[in-house]
Amino acid sequence: MAILPILEYPDPRLRAVAQPVAQVDDDVRQLVENMAETMYAAPGVGLAAPQVGVALRIFVIDIAGEDEPSDLHVFINPELLQTDGTQSWNEGCLSFPGISEDIKRAERVLLRALDRDGKPFELEAHGLMAVAIQHESDHLDGVLMIDKVGALKRRLMGKKLARRQHASP
Ligand code: NI
Repeated sequence: MAILPILEYPDPRLRAVAQPVAQVDDDVRQLVENMAETMYAAPGVGLAAPQVGVALRIFVIDIAGEDEPSDLHVFINPELLQTDGTQSWNEGCLSFPGISEDIKRAERVLLRALDRDGKPFELEAHGLMAVAIQHESDHLDGVLMIDKVGALKRRLMGKKLARRQHASP
């Protein structure tokens, strides 16, 4: 296993549309393991393959709390089948360190994906899990949280990130 470097906005690789995984083989499983280790080390509740520079339709999510056992979900070639309702969460993103914003999304999602053995499954999710699924699905299409906020907030986010990047050694 290995911890992978996480790309940060505005790295252009975060804007690529990721390609479907042709076959869930050992290379894909190795990538998934490394992504999970990277997410836990960060720490974060979700990580999409484009965030580690791999343009494939894969993401991992674990929304378990610090005092709960880990609960890793692996999604390969995910497809959102249904979305309903609305909710707003204060979201963060490992590609936008130090930034969090309230973002409106669907309250419930139904999706289909392949698991780490390449087996198809369907999952219905609400609340934070539904938010995480939508956030990570966006990454696969090159859509980022900065696209989900209004023009004023987008400018403020841009300034905050620029300050942070200039301040780093
Ligand atoms: Ni993100």
